[in-house]
Amino acid sequence: VTAPRSAWGIVVAAGAGERLAAATPKALIDLGGQPLVVHAARALQEARLIVGLSVAAPPDAVAAVADTLDAAGIEATICLGGPTRHRSVLAGLESCPGGVALVAVHDAARPLVAASVVDRTVAAVEGPWVAAAPALPVVDTLKEADATGRVIRTVDRSRLWSVQTPQVFDRSALERALATADPSTDPTDELTVIEAAGGAVRLVEGDPRGFKITYPGDLLLAEALLAASEG
Ligand code: C5P
Repeated sequence: VTAPRSAWGIVVAAGAGERLAAATPKALIDLGGQPLVVHAARALQEARLIVGLSVAAPPDAVAAVADTLDAAGIEATICLGGPTRHRSVLAGLESCPGGVALVAVHDAARPLVAASVVDRTVAAVEGPWVAAAPALPVVDTLKEADATGRVIRTVDRSRLWSVQTPQVFDRSALERALATADPSTDPTDELTVIEAAGGAVRLVEGDPRGFKITYPGDLLLAEALLAASEG
């Protein structure tokens, strides 16, 4: 049995968070006394298999993100995020030091991810598996509908999963897949790029606390969960 390989963490924190309708970039929104990006970066830092961190910051808030991480005692390489999540991931990838075998891409908008989930996902990238992500079974009944709202069919949800982050990649497999990908496509995640290249993507057990802050109500839920866990 070989020891699990470690990963470089990339926190993508450059989103505007338009659906939250806040004045600050989403990553700097406060959750229980610390900005979202600090929670997310700390969760990665606390994982045993994460050896270092890059954070892709909004171009107009690079100094603010650097200062806030610094004040929280989190060491990270700050890089300039792009206009889409995918572009921010590419920027983070470029900032990774050489010699790193795995990269773990995590949304700053998922502040409550457990370090154990991070480690489980990193450890899952071994053997034939070149990428992994935590996932939860879909809970709602799923319908496919046309533009008028008329239901066409009910989708079998038994094989469908909601995917969270961190998404962990064998770095060279990801770089190879990106090199052959159409540069004009802008995938919502990089697992898509691996899938298109025929690579084996593995889903591992996620945790409801890894949910993404998207709407204002999500922030209230995260505050309640955080307060409960701090007891
Ligand atoms: O917008 P959405 O919630 O899907 O964003 C997911 C993650 O991607 C967030 O952590 C956000 O900060 C990040 N992102 C980014 N650069 C962008 C857009 C989103 O780093 N241009």
